[in-house]
Amino acid sequence: MNNKQSICRKNIGIWISEKKSQKLNWKELIKTCNSHGYNLIKLDLEKSLEDQTECDVFLHKLTDVIAASDQGDLKALHIICNVQQYLSNHPNTTVIDPINNVRILLNRHCYYTILQEELSLQRHGIFTPNFAVFAEFKTCNIEQNIQIMRQRGVTFPVICKPTIAHGSKSAHEMVLIFNKKGLNACKPPCVVQSFVNHNAVLHKVFVVGNRYHICQRPSLKNFNASEELEPIFYTTGEVCKADSRSTLSILDPHDKPDIKLTLDENKIKPIIRLLREKIGLLLTGFDVVIDNVTDAEVRFDAKFRTYGGGGVVSLQP
Ligand SMILES: Nc1ncnc2c1ncn2[C@@H]1O[C@H](COP(=O)(O)OP(=O)(O)O)[C@@H](O)[C@H]1O
Ligand SMILES: [Mg+2]
Repeated sequence: MNNKQSICRKNIGIWISEKKSQKLNWKELIKTCNSHGYNLIKLDLEKSLEDQTECDVFLHKLTDVIAASDQGDLKALHIICNVQQYLSNHPNTTVIDPINNVRILLNRHCYYTILQEELSLQRHGIFTPNFAVFAEFKTCNIEQNIQIMRQRGVTFPVICKPTIAHGSKSAHEMVLIFNKKGLNACKPPCVVQSFVNHNAVLHKVFVVGNRYHICQRPSLKNFNASEELEPIFYTTGEVCKADSRSTLSILDPHDKPDIKLTLDENKIKPIIRLLREKIGLLLTGFDVVIDNVTDAEVRFDAKFRTYGGGGVVSLQP
C-alpha cells in the first residue's frame, strides 16, 4: 500500500470497553477494514477527539457509558459530552449507532412500549399476548402493583427486571416470582413480564444492518405459578451465557421436549426491520424464545450489542 492509497482511505474511529477490546481479534478487524478501504483508529474518549483523527465513521459501544451518564456519573457524562461535541462539530461523520437511538434501549419500559405498539409486527402475524404484556412498578405497594398487573393482563409466574437495562451489573439482576406474596422481592423502578415456558432454550439474534446471525444459549427451565414457591433470584449471565451451567436450566424430567421447537427465520426479519426503521439501529440484537405451549415465537430483550436491544413480542406461526 503506498502513501497515496492510505491517504485516500476513510477513517473509522472505534470505541469499545477495555473488556470487550480484549475479546476482539484486532488484527483481523484492521485487515478487513483495510481491505474495504478504511483505516481503523482506536479512540480514547477521555481525551480530545479532535487531536486523534478525523472520523468518517464513529463506531462505538457506548451503551453502558450512556446509561451511567444518564444516571449522573460524572466521568461518563464527560465522555458523552466529548463525543457529542465532536459529532456536532463534524456533522458529516456517520455514527453507528446514533446515541439518542441507543438511548431508547436503555430503558425496558420505553422499548417494550415501542415494540408492543408496533403494528407492523402484528401484520406479520406477531401478536402481543402474555409474553408481550408487561407492567411497570414505580412503588413497593403490593396491592397497587397487583392491580397494575391485572389491568395489563400480566399473569404469574412473572420475571421482574430493573427498568434500566444497561450500565451496571444490577441491570441484569432478575427475579422470578410465582405469587402475589413474592412481589415483595421487586425493587422499583422495574418491569414485570409474564413468564413463558420455552424448554430452557434461548435464541440470540445478532444483527448487522440487514444481516443476522443466530446462536443458541441456555435459558430458564419451565415454571408454573404456585402459592408455595419463593422468588428465585438470578443474573442473566449466570443462566444464559454460552458456558453457564445453572441448575435453573435443567429441565424437569416430565418436561423433556418430544418435539424440538424450531425458529422460523421469516419471523425474525420484521423484527430486524423494526429495530432499524423504528429505533434506528444497525448494530443490534435480540433474544427469541419459543413458547412450548402455543409454539409461538416470543421475543424479548432487544439489545444494542457491540456486534450485538429489549421488548416483548410474540410471533404466531
Ligand atoms: N418473559 C420471559 N419468559 C421466560 N424467560 C424470560 C423472560 N424474560 C426473560 N427471560 C429469561 O431471563 C433472561 C434475562 O432476561 P432479559 O430480558 O434478556 O435481560 P438482559 O437484559 O439481562 O439480557 C433471558 O435471557 C431469559 O433466559
Ligand atoms: Mg437478554
